[in-house]
Amino acid sequence: MTSPTISFAKLATPKKGVVVLLSAEEAGMSETAKACDPAKVLDRALTVADFTGKMGTSTDVLTPTGTPYERVVVVGVGKVSALTEYGWLRIGGSILGALRKPTEVAVILDVPETKVGAGDAANAAAGMLLRAYVFDKYKTRKDENGEKTPPRQVKITIHCADPAGARKAFAAAEAATGGVLLARDLVNEPANALGPVEFATRAKELEKLGVKVEVLTEKEIRKLGMGALMGVAQGSARPPRLVVMEWNGGKAKDKPIAFVGKGVTFDTGGNSMKPAAGMEDMKGDMGGAAVVTGIMHALAARKAKVNAVGIIGCVENNVDGNAQRPGDIVTSMSGQTVEVLNTDAEGRLVLCDVLWYCNDRFQPKFMIDLATLTGAIMVALGNHHAGLFSNNDELAARLFMVGQSTQERVWRMPLGPDYDKLIDSKNADMKNIGGRFGGAIIAAQFLQRFVKDTPWAHLDIAGTAMGSPANEINQSWASGFGVRLLDRLVRDYYEG
Ligand code: BES
Ligand code: MN
Ligand code: ZN
Repeated sequence: MTSPTISFAKLATPKKGVVVLLSAEEAGMSETAKACDPAKVLDRALTVADFTGKMGTSTDVLTPTGTPYERVVVVGVGKVSALTEYGWLRIGGSILGALRKPTEVAVILDVPETKVGAGDAANAAAGMLLRAYVFDKYKTRKDENGEKTPPRQVKITIHCADPAGARKAFAAAEAATGGVLLARDLVNEPANALGPVEFATRAKELEKLGVKVEVLTEKEIRKLGMGALMGVAQGSARPPRLVVMEWNGGKAKDKPIAFVGKGVTFDTGGNSMKPAAGMEDMKGDMGGAAVVTGIMHALAARKAKVNAVGIIGCVENNVDGNAQRPGDIVTSMSGQTVEVLNTDAEGRLVLCDVLWYCNDRFQPKFMIDLATLTGAIMVALGNHHAGLFSNNDELAARLFMVGQSTQERVWRMPLGPDYDKLIDSKNADMKNIGGRFGGAIIAAQFLQRFVKDTPWAHLDIAGTAMGSPANEINQSWASGFGVRLLDRLVRDYYEG
């Protein structure tokens, strides 16, 4: 995929081409921006267009007489006092969204009454890359310059106060952005093209960045005793894969942090089959595994000073003559037995073995699992927050904090013995579903039975990984939600 080329330069007045200026609500445009308007026509043009500088809005001023430019685009940044880190990502996204032709663009990243820092400029640049993402590899007729698709072959120069600092900050932001785009690509890919084996092959490509990647085959998974994961996999013609990714950027003796992902490459529901309407969305049921792959990409690409492991369980939940049946009892790697009362509650069956394996092999500092686990979390939280479940208040608080700053928001849900007992089973140690209510909590309780005392957090991203409303930094079905969140978590709390 072609993406914009971005470079940074000192604040200056461009001589020609397309120019993007910023305007704030109330404060208007900076002196540098006004210098790009020698004939003083912009004020009037903006008034005529009823442009107030609201965040997310932009207006186009076509070759105003007296300016040397082909086009002047004014992008609103909202109130100067309300500018945040996420705001700069949105501004970058709005700028890219306002471009129409693949051309050279000069952005004057300057706002009155505040200093636009190196980090702000880097975030704006990252926002441009995120906005430029389009999944069109299967379209034989590209809509490169269509109304909806912003051009990707643009050369953007960001003029800002501290270009050297911005360049440095952008290197890190670009790594995280690469992880987001990778996660989106994996989620958008249809299941005929991306089964467990193909997913593992994609993960293996992280070796180029210095990640150690191990791929365990069906035989090895069986040998480890992962009966719960294997029970899900057995109904598909496509064999499962367990992928272990290690990034060792920290001190040799430091325990790793760990990310675990649900990688159900397609979820038919199995014998407890899903209805036809909307089943196509279940190609994205590997969204958790995509985020784990994305965060490992990000950490390696920016050479993060941390030891991290990412483990994903890749299986297809399908239904053939060998598929598991409701009532089957499987033995997980932990030795605990599970009565499978609903074959569509398969994510927890995959994750329970992967969590156990992760804990057992790595004794990590913490484990965070990500999964498109339940429809119930969408009923509870909609598309705007992921469900957060944790046995550790500090880890939960940190996830909440980084959720606020990245605006990949999480909302903590309860856990406790009253919920836990809902999965006790008559015939085995536990069953894989509870009653009618609190479905997302019940799923989390199930997972908790496999993490012992290790600090653990579970993010149910069913509502946020895909199908969430488009915004300034994402126009694609798959959002990549979680990569920026985890990257920020590592950066703020676990590096060095
Ligand atoms: N993959 C689904 C959850 C899901 C639903 C993700 C919609 C994204 C969008 C999961 O495997 C599932 O089927 N969960 C069931 C659990 C139930 C059978 C207890 C659900 O949520 O209905
Ligand atoms: Mn399911
Ligand atoms: Zn599923």
